[in-house]
Amino acid sequence: TPLSHIRNFSIVAHIDHGKSTLADRLIQSTNTVSAREMKEQMLDSMDIERERGITIKAQTVRINYTAENGEEYVLNLIDTPGHVDFAYEVSRSMRAVEGSLLVVDSTQGVEAQTLANVYHAIEADHEIVPVLNKIDLPASDCDRVAEQIEDVIGIDASEAIRVSAKTGQGITETLEAIVHKLPAPKGNPDAPLKAMLVDSWYDSYLGVIVLVRIMDGQLKKNDRIRFMQNGTVHHVDRIGVFRPAMTEIDSLNPGEIGFLTASIKQVRDTRVGDTVTHEKNPTDKALPGFKPSQPVVFCGLFPVDSAEFEDLRDAIEKLALNDASFSYEMETSAALGFGFRCGFLGLLHLEVIRDRIEREYDIELITTAPSVIYHIHMKDGEMMELHNPADMPDLTLVDHLQEPRIKATILVPDDYLGDVLKLCQDRRGIQLDLTYAGSRAMVVYDLPLNEVVFDFYDRLKSVTKGYASFDYQMIGYREDKLVKMSILVNDEPVDALSTMVHRDRAEQRGRAMVEKLKDLIPRHMFKIPIQAAIGGKVIARETLSAMRKDVTAKCYGGDATRKRKLLDKQKAGKKKMRQFGKVDIPQEAFISALKMD
Ligand code: GTP
Repeated sequence: TPLSHIRNFSIVAHIDHGKSTLADRLIQSTNTVSAREMKEQMLDSMDIERERGITIKAQTVRINYTAENGEEYVLNLIDTPGHVDFAYEVSRSMRAVEGSLLVVDSTQGVEAQTLANVYHAIEADHEIVPVLNKIDLPASDCDRVAEQIEDVIGIDASEAIRVSAKTGQGITETLEAIVHKLPAPKGNPDAPLKAMLVDSWYDSYLGVIVLVRIMDGQLKKNDRIRFMQNGTVHHVDRIGVFRPAMTEIDSLNPGEIGFLTASIKQVRDTRVGDTVTHEKNPTDKALPGFKPSQPVVFCGLFPVDSAEFEDLRDAIEKLALNDASFSYEMETSAALGFGFRCGFLGLLHLEVIRDRIEREYDIELITTAPSVIYHIHMKDGEMMELHNPADMPDLTLVDHLQEPRIKATILVPDDYLGDVLKLCQDRRGIQLDLTYAGSRAMVVYDLPLNEVVFDFYDRLKSVTKGYASFDYQMIGYREDKLVKMSILVNDEPVDALSTMVHRDRAEQRGRAMVEKLKDLIPRHMFKIPIQAAIGGKVIARETLSAMRKDVTAKCYGGDATRKRKLLDKQKAGKKKMRQFGKVDIPQEAFISALKMD
């Protein structure tokens, strides 16, 4: 295909505005797959993504389209991840294409992730085609939403395409707009090979599959290639395209998007944004701006049943093969035994990995409090990174601590603005901006990441009845009065419950935590003191009183089956408990104790 007949694009949208449905519809209407092969949401390949309705791994599809002018075009769609945690991957993969469809749900309007994602597209110099989706719904209000796109994003929406990805209305117009409004790619076929590594994932048959966009030169089967960032050389054993099934072809040329396999064992050897070239006759200039994504949120993962530690190691190693942005190292906790300290791009990433371990590998986990990376400046001038509150050094050696801060953008209907401001204020936020677009407010806050990682998003959703949307980016480190708070149960410190807190909030947080734990820990035969402490000083205390009677006593002696049932129930409950000294603490306590209402 000549360059003039190729169009490369992505779809940017807020979650649930219909990105996957529209992609399916474009594939279907061009007969890329027969109706029978067409599965709902075929671009979301993993079950967990489908269940949560989010797309995590970028995938791509090549569509052949005969336009109304009779010409044949090749349209390459890249499906980018839709969540804040994966912002870096989104911004990189956008550089592999020339344009974007900006999909906005015409019953909803612009949301925080619409903004975040469209800014990535604007930064990547995309031509942007606005698409108003869900026009089949009675609540659709295209004029209002088009105006909002112009006001809030500042792009012309007068020719926005009105679409129902559900009924198929407006799909031809969308395809025509891709052909006529988006620019063709550029590239020199005679220059040395320069390709961008757009994405990669592990396949159990083929090894790592690498998605590339050819900038210059030509890539062929059996070529020897080099990844310029880590210098590794590989023999290409397959190249091809997605239609959307993998289809092998002979060569990939400038402007094209396709895959290669080269017996690569680990996804972490293939970093998104890296430049691929030939071993011989390489390009002299790598693509600019490469930086691998770094984990920002850390937590401990421990098996509930310590006999499952090796299974957990196995599961984590397998998941890490396929996820370069997930980090792990072994950790031992006095209370929880052997486990792993894991690093994630954000909370959603954490949840996805935790769920996969529990579901795909059937291992019950205790997840410790998520923590961010603190910078500890020692009196001797050294700086150390603290990934785990349990590793906090001797305070007499510490000069000061810094914590990561974020810039959070929240879009919310007027009615809930007060609650949102209060929430941000409660989380030590500093307001940076407040503007209106119609009946919606856009608030921008500078917040400590530490106050956001745990349950900020849940709280935001609940105080706004789900109407607020949220996006954030890291802005750097700042000094504050931070201390480590320990929790003691029956006079024994439970390291997995240690957290870093702001000094002025420590009493309040400590009190809330011990009160929660008092409710979460079942009664024992003895009295259990539960305390929060900073250094050696107790700042909050509750006492769980002793159990009075045998639980089975109320099953009047005779009924053996009832008694058995009750004991079985207790046993099942027990499975989710861990022993700390003489005390059983249920697994849910580790998460619930940290939630702030
Ligand atoms: P993420 O993958 O989470 O980013 O979501 P998405 O943007 O891909 O949204 P998805 O395509 O999963 O659509 C979200 C919901 O809206 C689904 O229940 C769709 O069936 C529905 N939907 C999508 N397009 C339309 C439309 O044009 N009309 C109607 N009525 N519903 C639609």
